[in-house]
Amino acid sequence: MTQTATDPVALKALLQWYLEAGVDEAIADQPQDRFAEQVQALAAKASAPAARPGLSDGPLPASPVRGSAPPARGPLTKPAAPAQLSDQAAVKDAVAQAAKAQTLDELRAALEGFDGCALKTTASNLCFFDGNPKARVLLVGEAPGAEEDRQGLPFVGPSGKLLDAMLASIGLDRNGEGDSAVLISNTVFWRPPGNRTPTPSEAAICLPFVERLIEIVGPRVVVCVGGPSAKTLLAQTQGITRLRGKWFDYATPKMAGPVPAMALYHPAYLLRSPAMKRDAWRDLLMLKQKIADLGAG
Ligand code: URA
Repeated sequence: MTQTATDPVALKALLQWYLEAGVDEAIADQPQDRFAEQVQALAAKASAPAARPGLSDGPLPASPVRGSAPPARGPLTKPAAPAQLSDQAAVKDAVAQAAKAQTLDELRAALEGFDGCALKTTASNLCFFDGNPKARVLLVGEAPGAEEDRQGLPFVGPSGKLLDAMLASIGLDRNGEGDSAVLISNTVFWRPPGNRTPTPSEAAICLPFVERLIEIVGPRVVVCVGGPSAKTLLAQTQGITRLRGKWFDYATPKMAGPVPAMALYHPAYLLRSPAMKRDAWRDLLMLKQKIADLGAG
């Protein structure tokens, strides 16, 4: 055991360092089935070559420690499916489940019953959407954060407060009606542990639900909030700095036709880099102009 592992002052300093680095959950990215590990360890012991006399009645093997070598896979466990294959199966299931939904309530129920996204296992709440389902403007952020996870609503933490102010500056409001109304959602519906960016497979697995949300709401304009959202929805590989300030066409096969889509800097980025608010303001004016061009109704 190292000195750090026993020294309370060093341990506290280490925790503080983790906290400042943004780690706020004592969990890993993927769930760990410790019951299965014990079964595997027992199975490995049972199938091991005959033990030397005197050692066979020893204590049961202890549960493996995190970071140690994984236990040998015993005959009681199914071989793990290749990750790619299970992601593909999850995407297929997501497409099928999302396609059945005809209303936002049905889509929410489909998400509640969907177990293909591992983020669900570590999140506290489903975070579906906030705002007005009749809105002409639909915003899609990256992923719920800690406060969103607690409340089950998108953009209700510090970056949500800035997003509300940005929207208000051009006459939009998540509690608004008519021309001022917006609907806000995310590219994934459960909080990634520690607020990390969703992985490409998590985004791909949730995408059929995001697409169905857009089809059901039928907005006149789609706004991607932040680079990961823009890359996912607009199928682009460039970063947000190159994607912002332009109009794209957004369409799914079930939509009557394409709608204009744009990307905004993420408010969390603007909180860290206030100098970029000048560009964000230009983008908001561009959005305001597009809404005005669409006319009333
Ligand atoms: N950031 C996002 O992208 N979405 C949220 O809902 C909150 C923070």
